[in-house]
Amino acid sequence: MELKEQIYKDNLPKHVAIIMDGNGRWAKKQGKLRVFGHRKGVKAVREAIEGAAEIGVEFLTLYAFSTENWNRPKFEVDALMSLLLSSLKDELKTLQENNIKLKVIGDISKLPQKNQKELQQVIDKTKDNSRMTLVLALSYGSKVEIIDAVKAISEKVKNDELDISEITEDTISNNLYTSEMPDVDLLIRTSGETRISNFLLWQIAYAELFFLEKLWPDFDRTDLFNTILDYQNRERRFGKTSDQVK
Ligand code: FPP
Repeated sequence: MELKEQIYKDNLPKHVAIIMDGNGRWAKKQGKLRVFGHRKGVKAVREAIEGAAEIGVEFLTLYAFSTENWNRPKFEVDALMSLLLSSLKDELKTLQENNIKLKVIGDISKLPQKNQKELQQVIDKTKDNSRMTLVLALSYGSKVEIIDAVKAISEKVKNDELDISEITEDTISNNLYTSEMPDVDLLIRTSGETRISNFLLWQIAYAELFFLEKLWPDFDRTDLFNTILDYQNRERRFGKTSDQVK
């Protein structure tokens, strides 16, 4: 049976998040500049998006650029920004054909003007698409996101719109950049690193974590399908006993 057909449709992760890691090492292994790895990484991005949509994942969040990534050499930051810009221009058609909506989380005001403009255009043009939401985390940091939520909630308390005793998990969730999205079910990180790196700290509270050895440019839809199959073989207990969830 084809790999894809082995996946149960009634136990799909609704929200898959990916830390795409290892572009630099991939390039170095070939004796090339890091930027070459990022360029090859775009192909893997396309594989992940198409694979996730094919299977029926509702939300796919990709960690494309962290708040910490601004500290990389200017040459590399510039290359990543121009790669993002050209990918947005190239992929609009694919997003439309596959009925995929684009969303961004992070402080995109730090991005070059033309990137901000292009992002806004693709977001506007795809806003009515409904098969899957692709979320790009750009200039994103989970701690800053939580700080922003705390500020927004404090403001409401200060203005007597909210009582402290009314603050619940939902209050926090609803004030994060991901407010309209379900929590992450499945988190993948490539390249053998076993860190979270300030990505969706609140949203992964009960996510299943998968650390793959492959470097990001080598990732393809087969890796995604295999990981989803593994995910379906895990038992998610959410703090309960095994007997309770059966
Ligand atoms: C991590 O590899 C990758 C990034 C910081 C950037 C990810 C960007 C892309 C895959 C391309 C552009 C994205 C889109 C959405 C079009 P690394 O550089 O940290 O690798 P290393 O750990 O081996 O140095």
